Amino acid sequence: MAMAAVPPPDQPIALTVNGSTYPRTVGTTATLLQVLRNDLGLNGPKYGCGLGQCGACTVHVDGVAARACVIPAAKVQGRDITTLEGLGDRLRPHLVQSAFIQAQAAQCGYCLNGMIMTTAALLAHNPHPSPQAVRDALSGNLCRCGTHVEILAAVQQAVAFLANPSSDPAPR
Ligand code: FES
Repeated sequence: MAMAAVPPPDQPIALTVNGSTYPRTVGTTATLLQVLRNDLGLNGPKYGCGLGQCGACTVHVDGVAARACVIPAAKVQGRDITTLEGLGDRLRPHLVQSAFIQAQAAQCGYCLNGMIMTTAALLAHNPHPSPQAVRDALSGNLCRCGTHVEILAAVQQAVAFLANPSSDPAPR
């Protein structure tokens, strides 16, 4: 008779998310996305494919866009993790969030976390991206509604807000 597999024990970790440190005890196989959504209640990052291929779960790790669904939570201890919630909020949205609102880029909205987080990381490193650079940056972020034209317009709006912050109607 085969022995039942014994699940690995939970482990204590501490994640630095949106400027605060959160000690938690999680399963050894827990992904960053699972901890963010299930343990920290941060539902900006979405579960799409779970395979690192759709971009719905995108967060920033040390300022770089990363797929939270394939990152073991324990591996990013001590790193600076930012989620959509850390970018801005309803009252004081980040300029990229403001641009996506202005451009009415959402249809179902499920992909927007990834689109916004990827755009924010792009503009932080390249405030004047060419149209091709924008397309390249977002090429791994899938939108099943097909609102790519509006999303690209939103990115151009964000570029304009970055160049002329007073044109952004959001409070700063
Ligand atoms: Fe992470 Fe699709 S859910 S890339």
